[in-house]
Amino acid sequence: MSSLHLQPLHPHFAAEASGIDLAQPLADADVRAINAAMNRYAVLVWRGQPLTAQQQLRLCGSFGPLDIGLKRVFKRPERLEDERLIDISNVDAQGQVARRDSPKNLSNFANQLWHSDSSFMNPRAAYSMLHSVINPSWGGETEFADLRAAHDALDARMRNTIAGLSAEHFALHTRLLLGDEAYTDAQKKEIPPAIWPLIDTHPGSGRKVLFVGVHARQIVGWPTAESRMLLLDLLEHATQREFVYRHEWQVGDTVMWDNRATLHRGRRYDIAERRELRRTTVNDTPEAMLQAA
Ligand code: OGA
Ligand code: MN
Repeated sequence: MSSLHLQPLHPHFAAEASGIDLAQPLADADVRAINAAMNRYAVLVWRGQPLTAQQQLRLCGSFGPLDIGLKRVFKRPERLEDERLIDISNVDAQGQVARRDSPKNLSNFANQLWHSDSSFMNPRAAYSMLHSVINPSWGGETEFADLRAAHDALDARMRNTIAGLSAEHFALHTRLLLGDEAYTDAQKKEIPPAIWPLIDTHPGSGRKVLFVGVHARQIVGWPTAESRMLLLDLLEHATQREFVYRHEWQVGDTVMWDNRATLHRGRRYDIAERRELRRTTVNDTPEAMLQAA
């Protein structure tokens, strides 16, 4: 029996979770209870449990193999010691607030677009876990959108239009959108696009999901302009306020989300102020599925 306690935070999804000490190794019953809660709520918020980097790695590793995402391609000097920790901060490798025009801030601005982590890879990301270390004095919230609710609210005409269609998700699409075009053809080819159905079935819950997000750049087999307009319309539909939970960070918060069932984005803050979070992410692999069963 797990002592997990859940308090819903939104009519569709997201719950505050408590009753488990995240700094200790998780019991199997707790892993199962958290997986079941993730299948139901897709976003879990844990408050007031500061974690060390090692504790976060162990916690996240309980849910599947850890992923390093884009670090496979962008080999930059890093501040955090373990490559499986993703430094979601505006701090450079030397520990100073990064220059306004730094690559670090480019990634941060890309994170302010609605996305699912690593949807441009196959396998893609299953759970991500973000832990708050330092917050700016205003802004810097993270918003989540429920893609299951978005699917369920599609009208019949749109559902028919997109049934059977797939989208191509490309790693550098957000970078190109933000005006960062300094990539060689070799770099552009380094991560081949990943293809996912627009209407997907979430493996843990069996629910249908409208799988869109800003990494999607093309509907397979469609002209580009028509593709992009449809993807923009679907993204606008999926991120209506009624499907969105906004998380206001306090130091020591950990938010876990399922990238196969939600989108997320960071919100604006003053990039001259320090903001530090640590992310860990698990791959959606058969091993992760077995652990979730
Ligand atoms: C992430 C992310 C948004 C934020 O960590 O994957 O997109 O609010 N973060 O920093
Ligand atoms: Mn992200």
